[in-house]
Amino acid sequence: LDNGLLRTPPMGWMAWERFRCDIDCTYDPKNCISEGLFRDMADRLVEDGWKELGYEYVIIDDCWVSKQRDDQGRLQPDPTRFPGGIAKLARYIHDRGLKLGIYSDMGSHTCMGFPGTTLDKIEIDAQTFASWGVDYLKFDGCYSNPVEQMLGYPQMSKALNATGRPIAYSCSWPAYLGGLPPNVNYSLLGEICHLWRNYDDIQDSWDSVQGIIEWFASNQDVLQPAAGPGRWNDPDMLIIGNFGLSVEQARSQMALWAIMAAPLIMSNDLRNLDNWATAILQNKAAIAINQDPLGIQGRRLVQEKSHIDVFWRPLSNSASALVFLSHRTDMPFLYHTSLAKLNYQPGNYMVYDVFTSSTVTRLKASTDFTVSINPTGVVMCFGHVTGAP
Ligand code: GLA
Repeated sequence: LDNGLLRTPPMGWMAWERFRCDIDCTYDPKNCISEGLFRDMADRLVEDGWKELGYEYVIIDDCWVSKQRDDQGRLQPDPTRFPGGIAKLARYIHDRGLKLGIYSDMGSHTCMGFPGTTLDKIEIDAQTFASWGVDYLKFDGCYSNPVEQMLGYPQMSKALNATGRPIAYSCSWPAYLGGLPPNVNYSLLGEICHLWRNYDDIQDSWDSVQGIIEWFASNQDVLQPAAGPGRWNDPDMLIIGNFGLSVEQARSQMALWAIMAAPLIMSNDLRNLDNWATAILQNKAAIAINQDPLGIQGRRLVQEKSHIDVFWRPLSNSASALVFLSHRTDMPFLYHTSLAKLNYQPGNYMVYDVFTSSTVTRLKASTDFTVSINPTGVVMCFGHVTGAP
């Protein structure tokens, strides 16, 4: 959506993958979906260096809403878990220089069975969110049919615009239509939404992350051109810092999300992160690649029989990023290549390794080099031209 918002992919934190629909504040007060959880995460974003790196959205997902609308037909938060209300939470978050996101569902119910936003409620819900000071809406698609979705997603876009408040708009629509044309119209999505979920929900496992990477790469001819400033594909949350990924796999997720120009929206417990997870999520070079102002999504260039995939993303100032991903499960694999073999023009290049020390290498495009890629891991490079051939 071309209205000045999300010229680069959004960055922040979202509750769903890690905290799901935990509404048991009696036995699990620190982790249940409640205002305290979002205040805690806002505090961590500010105090632990996330905000200054660009992680700014704190996003409520499903299970915040009360089972009843109020007497004026407005959604209201669960009174025991959000006793201060959403407007007060928004103030808390804005006071810290952050932005608040919220979740609703185009349909009769949210995916977890809470009240949804039917077609007749779109306007009032957009107005309510704006009046609370909400900055981002994730609009899910459970419990509606394709006809209702076709009407509802554009209608919500108009309703948000009509509030006069800048609200980033995330549409789950394509994920409910299989993610591909002819069912999905990516040029329409680019006109009405800032980002969209294309595919399955991420889970806390390498299997899930790898499946998502594979789906996006296999369908890149359709998906890659759909992305650009103000319109992003969303392969779902970053799960780094949870239980399912090794260090190598966490780097792989960060690298691929950077290459794919994906939203960097973490779902983890920022109060309990291992240092290695923090280091990966706060890697400045990976973030800079993700946030490149040209906003061109990367592509898979090569799929080797040796189970090495090479991904590439063009960046501003004649720079680019490369990721070598190993699907192997034996040992570090020595992959021999050259920039020329990866379609680079003749010339002299400076190459910087994103995750190991900051080794800077000067290379001619024709110079053969070897990277050692760990099982289920990546080598990620940032490169730029230093002079004529
Ligand atoms: C769907 C979405 C998830 C999450 C849940 C909440 O599955 O894809 O991201 O929002 O609903 O119930």
